[in-house]
Amino acid sequence: MKKFFGVIGNPIAQSISPQMHNNLFVYYGIDAHYHPFLVERGKLSEAVQGLKALGVAGFNVTVPFKTDIIPLLDWIDPLALEIGAVNTVVNKDGILLGYNTDGPGFLKSLEEELTLPKQPAILIIGAGGAARAIFFTLEKIGPSAIDLCNRSLEKAQSLAAEAKSHVPSNALTLDEAERRLNDYDLIIQTTTVGMYPEIGQLPLDPGGMNKPFSAADIIYNPYETEFLKRCRLRGAKTVNGIGMFVYQGALAFELWTGVEPDSERMRRTVLNQLG
Ligand code: ATR
Repeated sequence: MKKFFGVIGNPIAQSISPQMHNNLFVYYGIDAHYHPFLVERGKLSEAVQGLKALGVAGFNVTVPFKTDIIPLLDWIDPLALEIGAVNTVVNKDGILLGYNTDGPGFLKSLEEELTLPKQPAILIIGAGGAARAIFFTLEKIGPSAIDLCNRSLEKAQSLAAEAKSHVPSNALTLDEAERRLNDYDLIIQTTTVGMYPEIGQLPLDPGGMNKPFSAADIIYNPYETEFLKRCRLRGAKTVNGIGMFVYQGALAFELWTGVEPDSERMRRTVLNQLG
């Protein structure tokens, strides 16, 4: 029998997850379909009950529901619980299981595209939902430090205070971080600054960097943000947000179907959709 999957969010029309997953279903001969569902704010509980009642086999969760969905599920993966956000739900015989594949997807893209030193010193720019997913995932790779800088310092401070005792984490203002850039091996840009259509702004200028380093941006439209471009011009090896998007989807697909999908194929589908 055909299986149904989907993504819930608001807005949702811009999502390219349906094309990415439907292309994989056809490619692997899986009788399934993935559909975008626009859910009204305040109607999340009804929507989740409806998806469960209809036997939808699994779904992604996107803005603004990744945190609010947690109490509506039957079981939450420990990493997702730590992050405080779920982006992937598996419906296992009427039991809803919640996972976060954003952080692990980001890590997989780093591992694919970069060679990091052992115990890297990491700076994360931003302290929102994406920063949380990356922060708690990267804690597990044994970094020497994960510092956070953010426009609102208090948000960086409260996230840094959640760090495990064996991972030093300092909260910095954007100006302080800009002055201390040479302390880091990897800089990760997680804010919305530089995202289409407001291209050209910079959360922090990497111009003062004068040692080998790597830089990642979670934005994939534009393909290369001004931030990433300036890092590249300072000699950095850079990674844009396409890998994170592809691998969060690949990990979800594997949770739903047991099939580890071809990530290159997924990347091509995403690039085609972005035009
Ligand atoms: P996401 O889930 O994508 O991380 P979010 O939780 O709304 O989205 O977080 C957005 C991040 O971008 C925050 O770190 C935010 O900084 P504040 O905490 O100070 O709001 C950052 N951000 C958004 N607009 C910004 C801007 N113009 N300059 C600097 N940082 C900005």
